[in-house]
Parts: sequence; structure tokens; C-alpha cells
Amino acid sequence: MQKKIFTHFAAVIGAVALVSSVAFAPIATANDEAGKLLFLKGAAPACAICHTLEAAGAAGAVGPSMNELQPDAARVLNALKNGIGQMPAYTSLTPEQMQILADYVAKASRE
Ligand code: HEC
Repeated sequence: MQKKIFTHFAAVIGAVALVSSVAFAPIATANDEAGKLLFLKGAAPACAICHTLEAAGAAGAVGPSMNELQPDAARVLNALKNGIGQMPAYTSLTPEQMQILADYVAKASRE
């Protein structure tokens, strides 16, 4: 009897541990992956040609390093929509792609 209760208790603890590790593990979302692809080659010309972003393995040096600048998503969006200095505006990207890319750069530049 005692053993049975213990087994049950252990199973409950195990289940709780499993659920909380799933809930709190940093999950790389599908959007992160899409953002990385846009940064590396989806946007034309590719951001990676001109910018360093370590998390994406990009080492461009024409524009500022994203790791040093650590722009928030709004700043990235502004550069994408309007262009800035030598950087062209990315009018061929959809608003959704711009948002995914901006969120990704904001997050990945702080990794
Ligand atoms: C042809 C080279 C080139 C490409 C390609 C390029 N950039 Fe830039 N980018 C620059 C340069 C140069 C600057 C600095 C402009 C300035 O401050 O005068 C810049 C600035 C920025 C900034 C900072 C804007 C600010 O407010 O200071 C962000 C964010 C940025 N780029 C993101 C991107 C992303 C994301 C992509 C891909 C969609 C991209 N860039 C593609 C050259 C480029």
C-alpha cells in the first residue's frame, strides 16, 4: 500500500516537472527561424551582406553591427520601411515579413 502511494506521488511530481520544463524552456519559435532566413537571404539585398548579427552567423561590415546597435523592433521597422543612409527601403517585403524580421533582429541582437 505504502509503495503504491509513493509510486503515484512520484508520477505526479514527474508530470509537474515535465510540464514546467516545457512551459519555461526558451522556445525558438517558427518566427525566429523565418526571421533568420529573411535576414540571411530572404530580403534582397540580404541584410547579412551589410550587417553583423552573431546569432545568425552574419558578419557584414558595411552598416552598423546589430549586436552593437541592439535596435528595438520599431527602429528596425523604420529602417526597413524608409531606408536610411546607404540602406535601401525594403518595399518588396510584406508588412508581416517586416514585422517578423524586426522582432527577430531586436531579439537576436541581444543574444
Ligand atoms: C547595402 C548595405 C545594407 C543592407 C543590404 C542593409 N543595410 Fe541596414 N544599414 C546599412 C547602413 C549603411 C546603415 C547606417 C545608415 C546610417 O545611419 O546612415 C544601416 C542601418 C541599419 C539599421 C539602423 C537604423 C537606425 O535607426 O540607425 C538597422 C536596424 C538596419 N540597418 C537593419 C537592416 C536590415 C534588417 C536589413 C535587411 C532587410 C538591412 N539593414 C540591410 C546598410 C545596409
